[in-house]
Amino acid sequence: MIIDRFYFGKTSKGEVVYRYTIKNNVGTEVSIITYGAAVQKIIFDSKDVLLCFDSVSDYEKQDKYMGAVVGRFANRIGSGKFTLNGTEYSLFVNNGPNSLHGGKEGFDKKVWNGHFTEKGLLLSTVSNDMEEGYPGEMKIYVLYSLDDENNFSIEYTAISDKDTIINLTNHSYFNLGGHDKGTLKDHIVFIDSDKFTENDENSLPTGKIVDVEGTPMDFRKPKNILENIDDDYYQLKLGNGYDINYVLKNNIVCAYAYDSESDIKMEVITDRPGVQLYTGNFLDGEVKGKDGTFYGKRSGICFETQGFPDAINKENFPSCILKAGEEFKSKTVYKFTKI
Ligand code: GAL
Repeated sequence: MIIDRFYFGKTSKGEVVYRYTIKNNVGTEVSIITYGAAVQKIIFDSKDVLLCFDSVSDYEKQDKYMGAVVGRFANRIGSGKFTLNGTEYSLFVNNGPNSLHGGKEGFDKKVWNGHFTEKGLLLSTVSNDMEEGYPGEMKIYVLYSLDDENNFSIEYTAISDKDTIINLTNHSYFNLGGHDKGTLKDHIVFIDSDKFTENDENSLPTGKIVDVEGTPMDFRKPKNILENIDDDYYQLKLGNGYDINYVLKNNIVCAYAYDSESDIKMEVITDRPGVQLYTGNFLDGEVKGKDGTFYGKRSGICFETQGFPDAINKENFPSCILKAGEEFKSKTVYKFTKI
């Protein structure tokens, strides 16, 4: 694994942003920028399979969380409120009546510190006590690495000095036919999940866990991602396509996708209890992406491995509480192969 660092640009506040590139011995390459700790490029089999931007100002113009690490709490928190140890906390409401992806200035908008290590590229940042309304000063470390089997690994570590809540994910949009291919029309998807968390009219979980059996949400047999996407099914209508949290089994290949034209396949392996399947339904082609590409609706697919949305307000969901002084650790791998 070889890591290089280049100057990428400056934010509107004048902070310097670097781009790191990790290369393995079989020609695969991953670039990460310190703005949002965002994955900015993935070259596999000579194709760039990741949607993103070419300049810091383009990142600052968009609100699509392109490639970024999302936190402190990925996905939604109902009414932007939660109670922990008897104290009620209020967060910034930025998605209908709810708080989404860490609030106004989440981890996706921070400039992280980059360090070369033997294990890979380590990015770190600190979130202050009560930043965005969350209790506790939290230190967050994200280790990116790439091995010669084309496993691109993301390892998260976080520690807080007070009890708090946490949900970290990476919001990469993939198009395995190439970032400039257009829609996801040739993507075949598999998700090893029998159940999903039902959403209400604002895409917040109701608390109910529903069987995929007999619904367009069923990916237990691989199928084209667009096959049922426009079905008259409430959970699809809400998100204008797939935008749903699947309940996962343990630490196995929980999902894969491949493009039947490029024959590039990506497997997803995680220790998290959920994955948000999001088909880029809100991409609107507004901001110019890499190489002058305008990314339109459903031109990228996200597998956001995560704890369950709004877990702090749902007793039946796995806990998202991080106790003071305890370490949060989690790992997700995106593995690329040619089929
Ligand atoms: C997803 C979320 C979507 C949308 C998107 C960003 O994680 O579930 O509803 O907000 O991020 O555009």
